[in-house]
Amino acid sequence: MKGLVLTAVKKMEIQDLPKPSVLPNEVLVQTKYAGICGTDHALYNGLPGSAKAVPPIVLGHENSGVVAAVGANVTNVKVGDRVTVDPNIYCGQCYYCRTGRPELCDHLSAVGVTRNGGLAEYFTAPASVVYELPDSISFKAGATIEPISCAVHGVQLLHLTPYAKALVIGDGFMGQLFVQILQAYGVHQVDFAGIIDDKLALNKKLFNVKNTYNTTRDTLPSDYDIVVEAVGKPETQEQAVNATRKGAQVLMFGVGHPDAHFQMNTYEIYQKQLTIQGSFINPHAFEDSIALLASGKVNVDPLISHELELNQVEPVLQGKVAGVSKAVVKVG
Ligand SMILES: NC(=O)c1ccc[n+]([C@@H]2O[C@H](COP(=O)([O-])OP(=O)(O)OC[C@H]3O[C@@H](n4cnc5c(N)ncnc54)[C@H](O)[C@@H]3O)[C@@H](O)[C@H]2O)c1
Ligand SMILES: [Zn+2]
Ligand SMILES: [Zn+2]
Repeated sequence: MKGLVLTAVKKMEIQDLPKPSVLPNEVLVQTKYAGICGTDHALYNGLPGSAKAVPPIVLGHENSGVVAAVGANVTNVKVGDRVTVDPNIYCGQCYYCRTGRPELCDHLSAVGVTRNGGLAEYFTAPASVVYELPDSISFKAGATIEPISCAVHGVQLLHLTPYAKALVIGDGFMGQLFVQILQAYGVHQVDFAGIIDDKLALNKKLFNVKNTYNTTRDTLPSDYDIVVEAVGKPETQEQAVNATRKGAQVLMFGVGHPDAHFQMNTYEIYQKQLTIQGSFINPHAFEDSIALLASGKVNVDPLISHELELNQVEPVLQGKVAGVSKAVVKVG
């Protein structure tokens, strides 16, 4: 089978690989689509994502496909089923797994990060992370259920009320998902801040966003109950805290550089009684994400900017392709 292998830091090669065989608890998936995200950029450049990727490895952690084979113990899917795969595999035995917080697992492994993923014609995954895709969800949209599930996890960590007024900072794909998901969870007003006027306008048109702000020109108001930071830079993290009203919650969703810090006024945390909430990956969020997509409450079709072939992935990861917002790779 054909696969795109990360052979070293900043080096990829299409290779002829052996088709993987399944263990008793595993599923063999024939890949249809694999999404590319910031994590792949990090892994390509030798930085960690949720974990470190050690070459040689096939990336691709946002996948959809068809079940091609199942191990002897698999009961939840069968050959021919359309599926999507949660890449994250938890050990089930560590302190965090046993206290109901598997995302913090000490022995996290992941399809497309620590084991071969969807940028190949076939990949395997434990049956426990394979989910059936409803017929109403295309394979292309199905490859975005993993990023949707990360945003859903973030939203589930917040205490949401219909009266809350929310601001999403970051006009990338994740920010665009957050706008829709917060609305789906009943937040009555969602505003959107970014730096790309086209995307601000698109969100306003498609997703019933009330106010948009371009942070290169506009000052953000300071009266939000919920602020989602979906950029990952110290300056936007500071803006996120500054945009709060009393009693607010700030979801720090963006992945900062491992060495970065930002400044916060300590009195303000106390006086406004702020909650600063981190968010890491996507436990128990696939079913909700599939439902959000199937019901149309989340629509990703207008947000997918690029459909690539395997040989077009590396230039995107090298940053040589302009205007990429969300790229998916048509593998099969
Ligand atoms: N916590 C998690 O589990 C998790 C999961 C997925 C992604 N992420 C992170 O979420 C962030 C967003 O992901 P993405 O895929 O949308 O990334 P992206 O790079 O596509 O989007 C980031 C966006 O931020 C915008 N931006 C840059 N500077 C800005 C500023 N000063 N003000 C407002 N907007 C600004 C850019 O225009 C860009 O569109 C990234 O940091 C990513 O690593 C976290
Ligand atoms: Zn991703
Ligand atoms: Zn564990």
